[in-house]
Amino acid sequence: MQAEAVLAPRLKQAESWPFSVAPCTPAIGAEIDGVDLGRLDDTTYGALRQALLKYKVLFFRDQDITPAQHVAAARRFGELEVHPMIPHHPDHPELVVFGRGGEKRGRENLYHSDVSWRQVPSMGSMLRCLECPDMGGDTIWVNMVAAYEALPEDMKARIAGLQAVHDAMPTFGQSLEGERYDEMRKQYPPMVHPVVRTHPETGEKILYVNEGFTTHFANYARLQPYRIGSDFRMAEMDLMQYLFRQAAAPEYQVRLRWRANTVALWDNRATQHYAVQDYFPAVRHMNRATIIGDRPV
Ligand code: SIN
Repeated sequence: MQAEAVLAPRLKQAESWPFSVAPCTPAIGAEIDGVDLGRLDDTTYGALRQALLKYKVLFFRDQDITPAQHVAAARRFGELEVHPMIPHHPDHPELVVFGRGGEKRGRENLYHSDVSWRQVPSMGSMLRCLECPDMGGDTIWVNMVAAYEALPEDMKARIAGLQAVHDAMPTFGQSLEGERYDEMRKQYPPMVHPVVRTHPETGEKILYVNEGFTTHFANYARLQPYRIGSDFRMAEMDLMQYLFRQAAAPEYQVRLRWRANTVALWDNRATQHYAVQDYFPAVRHMNRATIIGDRPV
C-alpha cells in the first residue's frame, strides 16, 4: 500500500470495534487488521459497516478465501448483482472476473463508480486480488463527499438542481456486436441521476458524476439562462469536465498497492475508483462482488 510509510498508529476504535484500524490518508481509506472475511460474525460485520461509512474504502491483507467465501462475505452487506457485460466466475456469477495479461489490457483506468448506469446503482464492491505484478496495477479511490464539500459555494448552488445521464454503452458497448449490443442497449437505457446525491446512511452530499459513465447533463439548458439551441453546449461540457476533474485531486485519494489475497471493500455511493493501467502485459487477476444499493436521490 502506498500509504504504508505514513500510516497512523494502529487504533482500536473508541467504538470498540473487534479489529484494529490504520487510517491511510486524512481523506479516505483504512487498513483493517484482525478480520477473517471467510468467517464474518454479526459483531464484526456490524463494525465493518460502520468503518466503511467512516473511511469509505477498507483494505484487508492476507485473505486466503475461496470464491464462495468471497461471495458470502460480500452478501453480508446486501444483495449482489450479476454484471450483464463483464465475464464472471464459472461457478459464481456474482463474481466479475478481471483477468488481464498477455493480450488483454485492463480498461478500468477511468474514474468511475461501479454500475452508476443502472437505475439502482451499487452500494459497494468487494474486490479480491488473486494474482498481480510485483509492481504496478495499483487502484486509486476518491472520496467524493470531500470533493463535493470543497467546491466553491457558488458552484454548489449552480449544480444543486442538475441531473446527469449515465450510460454503460460508451464503455462496455465497445466490445459488443450486433444483436447483443441491441439487446443490452434496450435492457440498459441511459439513466438519469442527480449530480449531487445524498448518502442514504450518513446524509452526506456526494458529487455523483464520473468520467466512466456520465455522458451529459439531462436538464442543463432548462436551468441556465441560455437560448434554446446549441449555444449552451460548450459551457455544459466545460462544467462537466470541471466536475469530472475533481476526482483527480490527490487530496481526496488513497492508492492501494495490491498483493495476492488483498481485499478492498468500498462504498460506491461515496467514492470513485481508477485502476492504474501501467502493468501490461503482466498478469493481474481480480474477482469483484458488487453489492446492490439504492436509487440515488
Ligand atoms: C473496478 O473497476 O472495479 C476494477 C478495479 C481494479 O481492477 O482495480
